[in-house]
Amino acid sequence: MNVLVTGGAGYIGSHMVRVLLGAGHRVVVVDDLSAGHADALPAQVDFVHADIRAKETMAGVLKTRAVEAIFHFASRIQVGESVVHPRLYFRDNLGAAIELLERALDAKVPYFVLSSTAAVYGAPLRTPIDEDHPKEPINPYGEIKLAIEKMLAHYGRAYGLSYAALRYFNAAGAEPGLAERHDPETHLIPLVLDAALGRRPHVTVFGQDYPTPDGTCVRDYVHVADLADAHLAALVYLSRGGASGAFNLGTGQGHSVRDVIDAARRVTGREIPVVLGARREGDPPFLVASKERAKTVLGWEATRSSLDHIIEDAWRARQTTP
Ligand code: UFG
Repeated sequence: MNVLVTGGAGYIGSHMVRVLLGAGHRVVVVDDLSAGHADALPAQVDFVHADIRAKETMAGVLKTRAVEAIFHFASRIQVGESVVHPRLYFRDNLGAAIELLERALDAKVPYFVLSSTAAVYGAPLRTPIDEDHPKEPINPYGEIKLAIEKMLAHYGRAYGLSYAALRYFNAAGAEPGLAERHDPETHLIPLVLDAALGRRPHVTVFGQDYPTPDGTCVRDYVHVADLADAHLAALVYLSRGGASGAFNLGTGQGHSVRDVIDAARRVTGREIPVVLGARREGDPPFLVASKERAKTVLGWEATRSSLDHIIEDAWRARQTTP
């Protein structure tokens, strides 16, 4: 199939590009490189350096490549920043998605796969979280992803667009050469590994008095290569006539901040200095997915997402990343 990957030079998008090429699809990437890295793109990829809001460029890309499916990753990703600077998120995440969908409808692109987030649920009322859990986001980041999901639902009904909104829990791990490179880095696993490498003096544990077994927050870490496979499974499902909808991408297993640090010590064999810090505002104690819908409907289940496997792969990739 001819597919467009927006944000294909980013962390998750670049893994997606590899999986799509491996499955024999023709891939065009549109990325403005505001957060992505050109060196994450394989040489054979058809790369267009542009903002997805560039109307004529995007209309041209969809037409000349006869794009049949869009994987939309291009997005700002910092929850905290979205609270302090919401206008950036409404402009760059919501505004750009509206524009992209305009072009997609005009070009009659049949399939759309959205990079969504567990942040659409807001503070969890039960665990594990299933897709029918109330959606009451507590930050602009989650609010906007939910708005895009709603837009897709309306466009699906009105215009026949087939879509899957994939709600990631904690994306982690990396394939060789595709380590997480965010600026600034805020995610736990790369920060822990940087402390192991001596690139940072320590890692700070945000809060030790949560109502969890060891007092630190519990998350559902899922390997980015598994996430990419789930997107491919979603495209296959839609192209066979599957009904549009939203799917959690997680493992159903939770790991605490302490579990992550212990696993990183084991895997790296290095010292990881830890500082006990205050809670970070807005962090729910538990975020663990119910994985049942993705398993039964998409036939997808994580296979590379044990905590040790994630950290081994992230460690290998991180050591070779400047
Ligand atoms: N943490 C620390 N120290 C750090 C960084 C993180 O203790 O230096 C803790 C956090 O408090 C949290 C856990 O490690 O409990 C994981 O934090 P991350 O920042 O790695 O990830 P989040 O769970 O905060 O965020 C993820 C995604 C977001 C998504 C969100 C859903 O990265 O994109 O889940 O709520 F929105």
